[in-house]
Amino acid sequence: MKSLEVAKGIYWVGASDWNVRDFHGYSTYRGTTYNAFLIIDDKITLMDTVKKEFADELIERISQIVDPKKIDYVISNHTEMDHSGGLARVMHRIGEDKPVYCSKTGYKNLTKHFPQKWNYQPVEDGGELTLGKRTLVFMETKMLHWPDSMFTYAKEDKILFTSDAFGQHYAGPERFDDQIGEAIMPHAKKYFANILLLYAPLILKLVQKVQSMGLAIDMILPDHGVMWRKDPMKIVKAYVEWSEQKPKRKALVIYDTMWHSTEIMADAVAEALGEEGVHAEPMHLRSWHRSDIMTEVLDAGAIVIGSPTLNNGLFPTVSDFLTYLKGLKPQNKVAAAFGSYGWSGEAVKIITKELEEMKFKVVDQGVKVQFVPDEEAREACRELARKIAKELPD
Ligand code: FEO
Repeated sequence: MKSLEVAKGIYWVGASDWNVRDFHGYSTYRGTTYNAFLIIDDKITLMDTVKKEFADELIERISQIVDPKKIDYVISNHTEMDHSGGLARVMHRIGEDKPVYCSKTGYKNLTKHFPQKWNYQPVEDGGELTLGKRTLVFMETKMLHWPDSMFTYAKEDKILFTSDAFGQHYAGPERFDDQIGEAIMPHAKKYFANILLLYAPLILKLVQKVQSMGLAIDMILPDHGVMWRKDPMKIVKAYVEWSEQKPKRKALVIYDTMWHSTEIMADAVAEALGEEGVHAEPMHLRSWHRSDIMTEVLDAGAIVIGSPTLNNGLFPTVSDFLTYLKGLKPQNKVAAAFGSYGWSGEAVKIITKELEEMKFKVVDQGVKVQFVPDEEAREACRELARKIAKELPD
């Protein structure tokens, strides 16, 4: 793949990771890209790098435009190794004395990853760097999604380089929003739900801050996936909507099962929710990837979780999902638990406690059924569904 001029004098020189299917526990069915950018000005500047394994591709793409030794500055918007893993190779190639601009926390984090004594230049929030015709402005975006994260704004070009924010794990022939259209939005939504959801309150504040600064934005260039040039505000508006987490009349019935009893209960709950006009579906945890369920969690008003009791506890996939869900801190949900058991029956109580700890509105202490659900037990599941439905918006 060749380098690509994305704006006058600004080139994409990153890499497409076509085959990655797991990104620290997040399923990436369409791979991803590591976007890095080369700015040609009086001072030639490399914005971010790529995952270590793709460093040679990065160097090759830079070489299509300029001798890498001519790079004057490197900017690291984020320490995570999918963007900084290639730094050692880059610095070796361009000269170890070249300045590396990063946030103050970026400095702390980069030095924990790389023992080399590079010429780090920690920058202030709002600090500026003149490249010649261009001025770059640095904006701290702490906890979006690491403490070191920052945006860089190219003033004259009206381009915002946003690191992980506004990205998508998507590698395809399309490079820009206008080339792929609406089809990119499910990828952007999944990315938000699995990476940024827990920082939703900070995102709302950041968007307000950027709006109050009155920044003109012609393009948003994230470090993953397609770049936003036709309508960059579309993804900003989507982030606001997703951050607000307004619940829909939608419920997820998330479960696992040993001998189909909890599955029968899940089907009864989902069907009864449907009869109450709730968009509901049973989601079996060994059929759905946790990161795909998480995408659906984003706008669901209700989360209903079922587990059989196994060895006095939860079925392992249910524990896995609850841990993942809890970490991402979704808000504004009603919830309940259900499950079958043989003799001890702790699972429903354990799930209910977890749901309460997540500050969900638990509508019932849950339905537990010994062995195989009979008609009475199925009716208890339907009644649970009706209680949930009453709490959801019309
Ligand atoms: Fe794409 Fe937080 O790294």
